[in-house]
Amino acid sequence: MTRRRKIYEGKAKTLYEGPEPGTLIQHFKDDATAQNGKKHEVIDGKGVLNNRISEFIFGKLNNLGIPTHFIRRLNMREQLIKEVEIIPIEVVVRNVAAGSIAKRLGLEQGTRLPRSIIEFYYKDDALGDPLIAEEHITAFGWATPQELDDIMSLAVRVNDFLSGLFIGVGIQLVDFKIECGRQFEGEMMRIVVADEISPDTCRLWDAKTRKKLDKDVFREELGDLADAYREVAQRLGILVETENALSTGPRLVE
Ligand code: TMP
Repeated sequence: MTRRRKIYEGKAKTLYEGPEPGTLIQHFKDDATAQNGKKHEVIDGKGVLNNRISEFIFGKLNNLGIPTHFIRRLNMREQLIKEVEIIPIEVVVRNVAAGSIAKRLGLEQGTRLPRSIIEFYYKDDALGDPLIAEEHITAFGWATPQELDDIMSLAVRVNDFLSGLFIGVGIQLVDFKIECGRQFEGEMMRIVVADEISPDTCRLWDAKTRKKLDKDVFREELGDLADAYREVAQRLGILVETENALSTGPRLVE
């Protein structure tokens, strides 16, 4: 056994060197954090669920021709990804008012926004990931105007795809966050969707009851987070009930 070289450890994931140059292994941990790391818990099974949900979504994005860093899932907690240069911006797309926009603009949670809104936050834990404008991004050189155009069109395409995917299983996509990276291939560079898309990075409400099925369950202490994520996986068809539901409960589909 050789020890893998750790490239980066974040709050919910660890990146290791991949088997070939230009690849990395993304490992999903069970850690849940909120309030910029002040609230922390280990939630059994969260990493496995997010690995599967993110694999499912990124696989579908790749098939649609929306470029991502995802190559394939390796095991219950890990996936093989392309190495990219992460752009230090969190791109948030909102369809319905909730979370920080509801607070900032005094909107009632659940109000449909006049149209989908894209926001940018500068990825800096010490500053608490502040909201920024396009002007900051280009003036400080975090991305060029052309890259920003590519990022915004990716964000819109991901929003259209995810909204349809989730409403088809009775879930409203309230908002979500993506990260983008530069993927280099020889002389070429393209902007791809990176990181993860999971109930950690989306707001997902039951379309009828508005029951929360995302990380707000942890942030607001509404119940069992893994149960909520399991429900999302089940509705997407990633989890099936075992024949004898009493014995082991839902199991992951291979
Ligand atoms: P917000 O309402 O707290 O700004 O969050 C908007 C969306 O972005 C929500 O779906 C959660 C997601 N998000 C992350 O994935 N990571 C973060 O660090 C933050 C602040 C939000």
